[in-house]
Amino acid sequence: MTAEEVLSEVLDQVSPSDEEREALHEAYESVRERAVETLDQEGIDADVTLVGSAARDTWLSGDRDIDVFLLLPTELERDEFERVGLNVGRAVFPDGTVEYAEHPYVQGTEQGYDVDIVPCYDLDSTDELRSAVDRTPFHKEHIRGIAEEFGEGYGDEVRLLKAFGRGAGVYGSDLRTRGFGGYLCELLVGHYGGFREVLEAAADWSPQVRIEPREPEDGFEGHLVVVDPVDPSRNVASVVSEDSFARLIDAARGWLDEPNESYFFPEEPEPMGSEELSEALKERRTRLVAVVFEAPDIVEDQLYPQLRKTRRSLVEELERRGFDIIRADEFADERAVLLVEANVGEQSRVEKHAGPPVHVREHATAFAQKYEGADVVGPYIEDGRYVVEREREHTKVEDFVRSDAFFGVGMGKGIKEKTKDGYEVFVGEDCAPLLNEFGVEFARHFEPTA
Ligand code: CTP
Ligand code: MG
Repeated sequence: MTAEEVLSEVLDQVSPSDEEREALHEAYESVRERAVETLDQEGIDADVTLVGSAARDTWLSGDRDIDVFLLLPTELERDEFERVGLNVGRAVFPDGTVEYAEHPYVQGTEQGYDVDIVPCYDLDSTDELRSAVDRTPFHKEHIRGIAEEFGEGYGDEVRLLKAFGRGAGVYGSDLRTRGFGGYLCELLVGHYGGFREVLEAAADWSPQVRIEPREPEDGFEGHLVVVDPVDPSRNVASVVSEDSFARLIDAARGWLDEPNESYFFPEEPEPMGSEELSEALKERRTRLVAVVFEAPDIVEDQLYPQLRKTRRSLVEELERRGFDIIRADEFADERAVLLVEANVGEQSRVEKHAGPPVHVREHATAFAQKYEGADVVGPYIEDGRYVVEREREHTKVEDFVRSDAFFGVGMGKGIKEKTKDGYEVFVGEDCAPLLNEFGVEFARHFEPTA
């Protein structure tokens, strides 16, 4: 198949049908009606509007998110603004839940759609931004302009880029993915001129990549800077991680080289079985250690940053203690797992510990005195410093994570609480009981792809 044929098949799958469009708008209208009614009752003169990809007809078929914004008068003080927002949300969705971003908003379901009801200020210009979401209605206007200029097919180009990004695991500005959000995808299509053009550019990206529709108000750092055309103090790509940036580059080169549908719809690996696990470990001769605990009941935007932070500090601490860690992962379902694969699982009982240079008299003397008569080898002198060889505190990775010293690792708040309640440690083949819940994640660990 040629690239064009593949893309046309992909579009068939990711473009919403007329029925899907109708269903979405029906759900929205029903929400809107109830919101307007409540605002009337409250005596507040405010518009209700649909924003995001649903408003721009750039969503991927099957996505069931609707963002409804309440454009509240600027006269409202902050707490009144929040109160009205919540009241309207609760009136529309008596069973809804309150979520917290910069300010609280209500989330509910309508005819199978997940609907956010978000208050923002009704502003004339983005010079007066007062809340983090005030930009969003301006994005809608701005993208409308881009789409008009682009002409026919804009929505398709955006959908292709989103679907391609999804296949590469880099679509979404949430803190689990740390990738390319919907609005960013639209800006990229507008800037480069289409799906293929974005990929051709991305294949040659080298940091720092700067896209500046306006003179930026900040010396932005990072590999990718896309200045928000409605607010030059913001980098729309600030959340894109270095790895997401690299993944898009890699996938773009692959697609341009050999286009096929698997870039859009990659197959999930088969879950790993216990025999495969044994074999992999026998072959690699590494030490696999899993720390397992109940996943904290927090939103993904908090959970994954906390897990990442904990995994990073755990690896740092282990390496500080002399272990050589090949790779570590974190994943969560009902339970959460920190998975560490060490080059060698067991070190000698000796830890080499360097003191100050001998010529730094005060510190050097204190060091020598501390170890005088202690059960250590040395102090001896090496490269001008006092050195001792003392007994290593933990010779095995699993001994360290089972000890109290584990809590010295920098953890996210939710992770600390849950591990304090208790955690289990699995080693090597004994990780097999985790495969039921995490077979796919283990498969990915042992056969990682770009
Ligand atoms: N938004 C933003 N920055 C983010 C997330 C959201 O500016 N990190 C704004 C954008 O105006 C965006 C809107 O909030 O259009 C809705 O966010 P989201 O649902 O993430 O993006 P969509 O454009 O709706 O795209 P998608 O199809 O991915 O939902
Ligand atoms: Mg959206």
